[in-house]
Amino acid sequence: MATAKAIFFFGIALLSCSLIGASRGLENRRSLFLPILNSDPKVFDVTKFGAVADGKTDNIDAFRAAWGAACKNSTTRAKVLIPEGTYRTAQTMFAGPCSSPKPITVEVKGTVKANTDPSEYVSPEWFTFQEIDALVLTGRGVFDGQGPAMWPFNDCKHTKKDCSPLPSSLKFYKVNNSVVTGITSLNSMQIHFHIHGCRNVSLYKLNITAPGNSPNTDGIHISSSDMIKVFSSVIGTGDDCISIGHSTTNLTVYNITCGPGHGISIGSLGKRPEERTVNGVTVTNCTFVNTTNGARIKTWIGTVAAEVKNVTYEDIIMKDVQNPVVIDQTINFGMEDQRYSFPQDKRNYSVKHSCVSAMQHSEPVRGCGGCRCRFGFFRST
Ligand SMILES: *[C@@H]1O[C@H](CO)[C@@H](O)[C@H](O)[C@H]1NC(C)=O
Ligand SMILES: *[C@@H]1O[C@H](CO)[C@@H](O)[C@H](O)[C@H]1NC(C)=O
Ligand SMILES: *[C@@H]1O[C@H](CO)[C@@H](O)[C@H](O)[C@H]1NC(C)=O
Ligand SMILES: *[C@@H]1O[C@H](CO)[C@@H](O)[C@H](O)[C@H]1NC(C)=O
Ligand SMILES: *[C@@H]1O[C@H](CO)[C@@H](O)[C@H](O)[C@H]1NC(C)=O
Ligand SMILES: *[C@@H]1O[C@H](CO)[C@@H](O)[C@H](O)[C@H]1NC(C)=O
Ligand SMILES: *[C@@H]1O[C@H](CO)[C@@H](O)[C@H](O)[C@H]1NC(C)=O
Ligand SMILES: *[C@@H]1O[C@H](CO)[C@@H](O)[C@H](O)[C@H]1NC(C)=O
Ligand SMILES: *[C@@H]1O[C@H](CO)[C@@H](O)[C@H](O)[C@H]1NC(C)=O
Ligand SMILES: *[C@@H]1O[C@H](CO)[C@@H](O)[C@H](O)[C@H]1NC(C)=O
Repeated sequence: MATAKAIFFFGIALLSCSLIGASRGLENRRSLFLPILNSDPKVFDVTKFGAVADGKTDNIDAFRAAWGAACKNSTTRAKVLIPEGTYRTAQTMFAGPCSSPKPITVEVKGTVKANTDPSEYVSPEWFTFQEIDALVLTGRGVFDGQGPAMWPFNDCKHTKKDCSPLPSSLKFYKVNNSVVTGITSLNSMQIHFHIHGCRNVSLYKLNITAPGNSPNTDGIHISSSDMIKVFSSVIGTGDDCISIGHSTTNLTVYNITCGPGHGISIGSLGKRPEERTVNGVTVTNCTFVNTTNGARIKTWIGTVAAEVKNVTYEDIIMKDVQNPVVIDQTINFGMEDQRYSFPQDKRNYSVKHSCVSAMQHSEPVRGCGGCRCRFGFFRST
């Protein structure tokens, strides 16, 4: 029985705008009462803990020591600094909870390079931030996943089942009330930024880059997270610019340039029984250039009583996009030819004030014949 459903409520733009306005006003007023943090944080420079910027030495011990001292042992606000230079490191974890006063900052000025020996990774992430409340990851630095050396080991490109995924470059797990900004993520082995189990994290002014033909190099993958904001970033990869997994709620995306890549995609959903509903995804003011898809929603016909609902894609500009809108609720049936793909003339459309009615399916939907879903397309000039 097919119980994977998708419900889309559109046309709520005015309502959400006024809500956003109200909460911004509140935040401004609240900030007047916050204590003013005018003292600079204490700096924990990784080179003072033994890091060597020669691009060869493994710096994992130095990174760990600097993080430990800043997070666990500082009585004043702390900042871990990775200065100019190229620092190689194997699988690394910066874990909290921290006892230093909040927030804790990690500033990256240099380039952090991944180890390229697949056997050195015991789990699929390279650099993990875990269980931290109030992290600020900032700087003009680069995380270089050294993808070209690792992509030949990717066995998930064609067989999605039973493959062992390569590490994500930056994994955020149980990170709350945090900011990630300025960072460049280059050539991840697989996913660039993986956000899971997080709450209230803003990611902005990021540069996420990998070749259009690199395997499974999603820009930002978000799942089981609430109140994530992604904005003002440039994302060009070999897979989804942003992919949205199950149990994601209150996600806001705006001012993203996406391409090359596979667009901004919700799903695949409904494959595994533990998956929960995606509720509240708003994607506005984004530009897609030379992508295979634009706005996409993919669900499996299965036994999961999960939904995709309350989704808005609005003010989206598409240039040279193969499939501007794809709603495929049958991906496990492999009915590629029957999926909903609109319009037929596939290029250079902008999407405005997207769709309209709610829809709910308890039966497989072949293509989207019965969807009653309308997208307002305007040919862009
Ligand atoms: C914590 O600070 C104490 C005193 O400064 C020092 O002896 C100890 O090595 C530090 N521990 C860590 C993990 O940095
Ligand atoms: C993050 O927030 C969640 C939900 O509010 C909470 O359960 C978790 O303990 C928080 N984590 C940290 C590190 O503060
Ligand atoms: C979200 O996190 C920011 C810090 O990045 C904080 O200023 C803000 O108050 C948090 N919002 C909520 C609703 O917790
Ligand atoms: C993003 O980073 C790549 C690699 O460092 C660089 O070539 C590119 O110019 C950057 N793009 C932007 C928009 O900053
Ligand atoms: C579009 O992307 C493809 C694949 O990433 C790339 O080969 C091609 O050069 C790009 N075309 C343009 C016009 O940028
Ligand atoms: C949109 O993002 C770009 C960075 O990609 C930034 O330079 C620009 O200021 C942002 N625009 C707005 C209106 O925030
Ligand atoms: C979404 O955010 C609203 C407030 O911004 C909150 O009331 C609601 O609980 C959030 N939804 C979920 C499912 O967490
Ligand atoms: C729809 O999503 C917004 C966030 O985008 C959230 O604030 C709102 O509560 C959601 N509405 C419903 C009916 O769940
Ligand atoms: C989207 O762009 C329009 C026009 O540039 C601007 O008025 C609006 O504030 C933007 N909205 C967001 C959420 O960035
Ligand atoms: C789409 O727009 C680009 C420039 O923005 C142009 O080069 C291309 O020819 C257009 N494609 C079509 C099919 O109109």
